[in-house]
Amino acid sequence: MPRPILATIHTEALRHNLARMRLAAPDARVWAVVKANAYGHGIERVFEALRGADGFALLDLQEAERVRALGWRGPILLLEGVFEPRDLELCSRLDLWHVVHCEQQIDWLAAHKTQQPQRVFLKLNSGMNRLGFAPALFRAAWTRLNALPQVDEISFVTHFSDADAERGIAHQARIFEEATRDLPGERSLANSAATLRHAQDPAVRADWIRPGIAVYGSAPDHPEHDIVHWDLQPTLTLASRLIGVQALQPGDTVGYGSRFVADAPMRIGVVACGYADGYPRHCGTGTPVLVEGVRTRLVGRVSMDMLAVDLSPVPQAGFGSEVTLWGRAGSGAVLPIDEVAQAAGTLGYELMCAVAPRVPVAVD
Ligand SMILES: Cc1ncc(COP(=O)(O)O)c(C=O)c1O
Repeated sequence: MPRPILATIHTEALRHNLARMRLAAPDARVWAVVKANAYGHGIERVFEALRGADGFALLDLQEAERVRALGWRGPILLLEGVFEPRDLELCSRLDLWHVVHCEQQIDWLAAHKTQQPQRVFLKLNSGMNRLGFAPALFRAAWTRLNALPQVDEISFVTHFSDADAERGIAHQARIFEEATRDLPGERSLANSAATLRHAQDPAVRADWIRPGIAVYGSAPDHPEHDIVHWDLQPTLTLASRLIGVQALQPGDTVGYGSRFVADAPMRIGVVACGYADGYPRHCGTGTPVLVEGVRTRLVGRVSMDMLAVDLSPVPQAGFGSEVTLWGRAGSGAVLPIDEVAQAAGTLGYELMCAVAPRVPVAVD
């Protein structure tokens, strides 16, 4: 018997979330962002559900090869562009569009021998100070690119640092507008948070949106809003079962470091899931968990292969009971990944990318 832990990818939820993002920006085309192996879901597992997108955006050339191998003939965008000159050959061979964010990438393009001019997305650093040309250098970069026979079409891209929070997108959208004014070409600015929170902003309504996290059923601005607010559905369930039950008396403790002390008689369940499965060790007592679809709490420290849960709200639970660490229980009850991430002091992004290779995955 394998350990009873299982991750399940919900393809209907992926379809729903993609449609939801389209609804938020009905005039834009949609890049489904599938970097980091589709945010941990697995490119091959999400592909059918997301093939209604207008394109796929990702980082690794190997991931681009995998998307082409699945039969995708439409646009693929390399969000960080190429990492070395020979990557450009693969761009030609696989017809990949790529971001150009620095002078080195223009140098490589200028030296690239190809019969097939390439489509590039020139990236502006509008304030995040990660990748992209500073506004003062942007036009010169465009002029250089525009003179290259290796370049076919130039589009424009930038990325928001605060779309999920109070500072918002207006300051960066203005810088982008000024830097690209009068330049011909398509534009792409919005991630999930910008698309959902600033749907009326003309910057979001540009040619392409680039949602990632919302497609994977996590609210980009949790805890201000949750997935119910944004009408998103969980796309990844991490579930397991109780492999032990203990009856505690007042004063009894649970797990390493005796972090939890019972103050009354109670039952706890021991779950086949630990930090070696990708469940965060930072989650402490009180982190929400569903047992038989009923909300209860984690107690004590998470160990490598096990964690403990309070069975007080679920007296009927026992050996073999279903445990939902996040996602959707068999009863239909939902525990958003964002709540677990919050308890661990992190984001849904990190949890979904961190499910360990030892966890078997099913697709429904
Ligand atoms: C350049 C770029 N575009 C789009 C996205 C998608 O962002 P999100 O997952 O927040 O929607 C990312 C993710 O970090 C990104 O780096």
